[in-house]
Amino acid sequence: MREFDAVIFDLDGVICYTDEYHYQAWKTMADSIGVYFDREINNRLRGVSRMASLDIVLEKANGTFSQAEKKALAEQKNELYKTLLARMSPADLSDEVKDTLEELRRRGYRLAIGSSSKNAPFILRQIGLGDYFDAVSDGNNITRSKPDPEVFEKAAQMLCVAPGRCLVMEDAVSGAEAAHRGGMKAACVGDASRAGAGDYNLKSIKDVLEIL
Ligand code: BG6
Ligand code: MG
Repeated sequence: MREFDAVIFDLDGVICYTDEYHYQAWKTMADSIGVYFDREINNRLRGVSRMASLDIVLEKANGTFSQAEKKALAEQKNELYKTLLARMSPADLSDEVKDTLEELRRRGYRLAIGSSSKNAPFILRQIGLGDYFDAVSDGNNITRSKPDPEVFEKAAQMLCVAPGRCLVMEDAVSGAEAAHRGGMKAACVGDASRAGAGDYNLKSIKDVLEIL
């Protein structure tokens, strides 16, 4: 008997790559208020919610910001980010990801998204996967961000699959931790794989086909 019935995919860094757009948008916002920001700080924002990311960005700021100022800064960043996301198209979906999803579907797995991003539905539409997944759990339906398991627990509920029968695919250490705290195994790529955070630490997305 097989171990899993469903695969829950993180979006940014697994299905597509928006890191550079996040970097450019945060950098422009930080420059506008004279706060230092670099790619190393950007790497710390992986899997972290927008407002928690802003707090990390503002660690380098002198002085403090009111809630209203923080909200305005997060909005400023998000507007910039959305103009960059508007450039994405189905060409930003790699053949490897497309073929892996199709093969998993052919093998009968239920497929979901579990992402901290409130922009997840927009990104999915841009890359041509707007209606593809059986469930989309994202920043719009959670109150706690990874490493809290909420986003993956909600995805499992939407799929009507028990957590223990869901495999999570992640590129962030916080995402692998969220999977584990939700009672799910994690297959990792990228940063999380290099850190050995997963139950399976893969070189590439397609390697998940060897597990399932
Ligand atoms: C995650 C990204 O997917 O979404 C984080 O890895 C980002 O870097 C988070 O901060 C929230 O994104 P958004 O689109 O809601 O601002
Ligand atoms: Mg990610």
